[in-house]
Formats: sequence, structure tokens, C-alpha cells
Amino acid sequence: MPNEQQPPYRVAILTISDRSSAGVRPDGSGPAVWVLVEAALPATLITTAIVPDEIAAITATLSQWADDSTADLILTTGGTGLAPRDVTPEATRQVIEREVPGIPEAMRVASLAITPFGMLSRMVAGTRGRSLIINLPGSPKAVRENLAVILPVLPHALDKLRGDPDDCVV
Ligand code: MTE
Repeated sequence: MPNEQQPPYRVAILTISDRSSAGVRPDGSGPAVWVLVEAALPATLITTAIVPDEIAAITATLSQWADDSTADLILTTGGTGLAPRDVTPEATRQVIEREVPGIPEAMRVASLAITPFGMLSRMVAGTRGRSLIINLPGSPKAVRENLAVILPVLPHALDKLRGDPDDCVV
């Protein structure tokens, strides 16, 4: 359960898309992420950005948000598939210090019950300092389906990452 005594979770959302960063396609996925997070968690949106599918741009943004902006939760959307320019998982792995494989594993299992294409997302999750970084696929539909799996678990994950010493009674 979220701890009501604590400040809202500081959330940052990164859209990773060549087309959206060039202004060719409106970003529907970043806003979809926030609508769902805001409805489910005590959260403040501290920053958003749209970057192209470039490792340097992704790693720079993720590390700045984790190190300087002290985001509790960084959600990325897009670039997790098999297209030649999909590099979100590779960039995320460069930035995280501890991988949390259960998060993408759970999302893939749940996605496969909806569509076999769920196996095609290579999304990863992990922590950097006190930030939890989680990749999501790029379409608003996939964002909704994947976030629905992890939102109930995020308060406990984020409280633990903040240093909550309480025993896990779940
Ligand atoms: N997961 C769910 N739940 N629903 C979806 O529609 N789309 C899949 C997959 N995961 C999908 C999903 C598809 S078609 C692709 S190609 C991969 O996510 C990667 O998407 P991305 O490259 O936009 O990140």
C-alpha cells in the first residue's frame, strides 16, 4: 500500500521515437502513460521529453533525470522492438545499476494473454540510485496493457527504493 505520510512519487516520462521527436507524429504514448499513473498513484509529473532512437540521447536523459532530478520513477515508451533503430533496452542497460527482471517478465506474460506480439518487446527495468527506470512499448494500447500489470506493485517497489525498512506484508 502507498504510504500516505510520504510525498508524492516524482515521475518522469520519456518518449523515444524518431518520428515524434521530429514532429512528424504526435506523441500519444507519453500522455497516455501519465493519465494512467496519475489515476493510480500519488504522483507528481516532474518532467517529460521526446528523444529520437539514439543511445546517447536516451542515456543522457535517463541519467540526468535519475541523478539530478531525483525522479522516483522514470517510465520510457517506445523503441523496445526489433526494428533496426530500436535501442531503448540497450540504452537502459547502460544506465541502470541493478536490473529488475521480474517487471518486464510480468508485463510480457500478461501481454501474451492479449496478443502474441507481446513477445516482441525487449523492454527492461532497473534501478539507478533511488530511481526505478521501466521501459514500455511504444503504442498507447501497449502502454495501457503493460502499465496495468505493474501499477499495483509500484508503490511497494518505490517505497522500498526510498528506504522503507518495514517488513514486506503483502
Ligand atoms: N504488448 C501489449 N500488451 N500490447 C501490444 O499491442 N505490441 C507489441 C509489443 N508489446 C504490444 C505489446 C509489438 S507489435 C511490438 S513491435 C513490441 O511491443 C515493441 O514495441 P515498440 O518497438 O513500440 O517498443
